[in-house]
Amino acid sequence: MTPACPSRQDRKEGTMVSAFILAVVVGGFTALGQPTESDLGLWAMVHWSTWSLRDPQQVLATFEPTGAQCFMGTNTDGFYSGGDVGPAWAAFFRDFPVGDFAGNDSVRTLPEARTVFADLKLKLMDGRSLDVYSALRFSETGKVEAADLIVYQGTSGPAPVVDGRIGAQEYRRSVRDSASGVEFSWRNGLVVLVGALRSPGTGWVSVGFDPVRAMQGANYIIAAVSGGQLVIEDHFGTGATAHRPDAKDHIFLAAGAITGGTTVVEFIIPLDSKDPEDKPLKPKTTYTVLLAYNRTSTSFTVRHTARGSVRIELEG
Ligand code: HEM
Repeated sequence: MTPACPSRQDRKEGTMVSAFILAVVVGGFTALGQPTESDLGLWAMVHWSTWSLRDPQQVLATFEPTGAQCFMGTNTDGFYSGGDVGPAWAAFFRDFPVGDFAGNDSVRTLPEARTVFADLKLKLMDGRSLDVYSALRFSETGKVEAADLIVYQGTSGPAPVVDGRIGAQEYRRSVRDSASGVEFSWRNGLVVLVGALRSPGTGWVSVGFDPVRAMQGANYIIAAVSGGQLVIEDHFGTGATAHRPDAKDHIFLAAGAITGGTTVVEFIIPLDSKDPEDKPLKPKTTYTVLLAYNRTSTSFTVRHTARGSVRIELEG
């Protein structure tokens, strides 16, 4: 079961939260091996709670010394590691004095990848509010190894938002496969990839990451908008011309829309779900990516109208 976010009452107990954080930071966590969903929920809550203290040192105390942070949609947009993480958080708090946070019942945990994803609303001390995606990957002892904070609403910087529309500056990188006409745009942090597909049709559209041979071995995200509803699945390439749904779906968030005869699908997936039916993706690395679509069919078993492949380099 996905752990719920802390109640509003709990979050108002600022001093209790600080004392709790201090106890956890000083005492550390003891769960070695694969954490439970509730371990992960607790670790994430402790990390998020430090934001409302607006003290970079308190945030840093939840990180491994070698931990790394990626910001998107802020003045601090970029990648930070080790000693650069604290100053980046200090700059973030100068722009955004966080007072409180609330989850939208959106917390997803992946125990095997020690990863948590959530869509959070931050209330700022000056009355403003921010909508953010937070993705956290923890060490065995419950410290943050890697974190992505994507501020997608309430800031002036461009950032990806999963709403079924591709804004002019939303994605840093984009490639169009000339064989299929399918366009793939992406931004990635250290924990998640935000991807956007645009096809010249109203049937399914798909991206397949890092194939081994033809369609085999690729990690597919395949989606269609049917009757105004998005259907999206996580598949795995089982043969040179075959794929099937994964036993476990690892799509954190998705949205799609058909506009003017083209289909747009946006999604967030973990870079490394640790699922043997997915493919691990690393920042700053180049991969082959398959792109395909069907002009009219939304059935995921009907073959492509056109397909092709491109090379993409992840940010990092
Ligand atoms: C929906 C069910 C699918 C079926 C039944 C199917 C079937 C096939 C078949 C029969 C071929 C060999 C003939 C040809 O080259 O066109 C093929 C090749 C190919 N398919 Fe699919 N496919 C499906 C989905 C996908 C998806 C989702 C992608 C990528 C996102 C994809 C990418 C490709 C590529 C790149 C090739 C050429 C491989 C090569 O020759 O190196 N296919 N597929």
